[in-house]
Amino acid sequence: MSNVFVLDHPLIQHKITHIRKTDTGTKEFRELVDEVAGLMAYEITRDLPVTEIEIETPVAKTKSNVLSGKKIGIVPILRAGLGMVDGVLRHIPAARVGHVGLYRDPETLQPVEYYFKMPSDISERELIVVDPMLATGGSAVDAIDSLKKRGAKRIKFVCLIAAPEGVKYLQEKHPDVDIYLAQIDEKLDEKGYIVPGLGDAGDRLFGTK
Ligand code: PRP
Ligand code: URA
Repeated sequence: MSNVFVLDHPLIQHKITHIRKTDTGTKEFRELVDEVAGLMAYEITRDLPVTEIEIETPVAKTKSNVLSGKKIGIVPILRAGLGMVDGVLRHIPAARVGHVGLYRDPETLQPVEYYFKMPSDISERELIVVDPMLATGGSAVDAIDSLKKRGAKRIKFVCLIAAPEGVKYLQEKHPDVDIYLAQIDEKLDEKGYIVPGLGDAGDRLFGTK
């Protein structure tokens, strides 16, 4: 699992526990997803290049590092990925945001793409694809297929909860994509839900159903 990074910081573990609970309502669920995404952004961006610049403090001249301006794109998989965008953007506010709209057909569990809009220079950007759930892996694989078809070269995938099946499938189809996740669960059930999971992320985030 060399390209899988489990970000199991105690703060993330604590928040994920509350995200999972049935009695966590929409408002709190949304806030927690946003907070966890923000905490994960810290690790996801660990390899960003920095450049040394000269600055002056009130005490002395010195040299200090700033981000060297690598171009980044955040790509939420609609709908549920939207819940993670602001948390990541808070730390890298200059990033562009592209959207991939996909839903899983409830019968076949196959992803269906209904929307795709990216910054024009995606081949020059490092793309951070966000979606709270990696279940069968079909949605993540399809979204990344679409991005690569349109020229994307460097992609990271970030989710909160993954099933082992989804991690394996994504690794097989896109071995070049690093996967960052908060927790790996036990399995998928017969309807393709992650067990124990958190239920339907989109419905819980937007209060639908
Ligand atoms: C959920 C989730 C992922 C997908 C994961 O979206 O947000 O995109 O399922 O499942 P998979 O790994 O088996 O493809 P859903 O299809 O429910 O759409 P929604 O976000 O619009 O509710
Ligand atoms: N999508 C979800 O929102 N939840 C799951 O458990 C699986 C797919």
